[in-house]
Amino acid sequence: MKMDADPSLIVFFEGRYAPMREARIGILTHALHYGTGVFEGIRAYWNETAEELYILRPTEHYQRWKQNCGILHIDVPLSPEELCSITAELARRNAFRADLYIRPLAYKSAERIGVAIDDQDAFFIAAVPYGEYLDSQNGLHAGVSSWRRIEDNAIPPRAKICGAYANSALASDEARRSGFDEALLLDETGHVTEGATCNLFMLRNGRLITPAATGSILEGITRDSVIEIAARELGLETVERPVARSELYVCDELFLTGTAVGVAPVVRVDHRPVAAGAVGDLTGRLRQLYFEAAHGRLPAYRKWLLPVYAGAHLGKRKQNAARAAEATLV
Ligand SMILES: Cc1ncc(COP(=O)(O)O)c(C=O)c1O
Repeated sequence: MKMDADPSLIVFFEGRYAPMREARIGILTHALHYGTGVFEGIRAYWNETAEELYILRPTEHYQRWKQNCGILHIDVPLSPEELCSITAELARRNAFRADLYIRPLAYKSAERIGVAIDDQDAFFIAAVPYGEYLDSQNGLHAGVSSWRRIEDNAIPPRAKICGAYANSALASDEARRSGFDEALLLDETGHVTEGATCNLFMLRNGRLITPAATGSILEGITRDSVIEIAARELGLETVERPVARSELYVCDELFLTGTAVGVAPVVRVDHRPVAAGAVGDLTGRLRQLYFEAAHGRLPAYRKWLLPVYAGAHLGKRKQNAARAAEATLV
């Protein structure tokens, strides 16, 4: 989505809730120059029937964020539970009734020249209404990038380090200019890693295959959700192993996963159709199951959801009606 965010939206900045237009950082801020920040991307989905906004796996996102901040010696002085509460309150203060993208970002905040890091840290959490990241309903055309994925001993891809996203930005830009919807990156050994902003799965001979957590990827939370849904709902096992580029050309189904894209089918790779060149059957089912789970319609996955309003904004009669409507859906 290209639209600029509304500056009157409330964000959490320097320990308080404030309008975005008041949340400003200085031009010499360390992270702006050297990329020394770690961010997260979290989704919340609005369920119109239940009149509820569900934040998807916020605890796991905040756990990952804090762990990865440690790589850059950034301290976020709050627990994942406290961060979840702040995020829900942020959504309530903005009275959001729409799908959201939530962006926590912790960074080295000293305003001075010099690359060495010190212990001046800051963080903010912003949330903006956000629809589909990529229109993937009918499948995407992905292209293998000429840019190589950064590796663990350069900038660890498992952490969402701000500076590392120049790698994703170069690959995305090249892909879009070449007419692809998304870039796929190889590592220095020529194996497939992931998309510029998402993980990758293929289906071969009845099994899901995805690069391992040691394969220069971000260990995606959507990846984890999809592995669980595939096993539990479709009896599909996932194998984590190196993936050769040419396997993308001969696999039965291919899809991408990520907080922004959800489960996005890929129907063409490098101008070659994936199997019949249409959305794969299992991919379509996984996409739908993930969507239903994220919207609070599958009881088995409610454990992933933090309800923002918990009925607090509804009158008694509406609460009962919403519960009844929900019961018919699950
Ligand atoms: C490079 C990269 N890989 C994978 C993902 C998917 O991770 P997640 O499912 O946790 O959003 C993302 C997005 O966060 C990403 O930026």
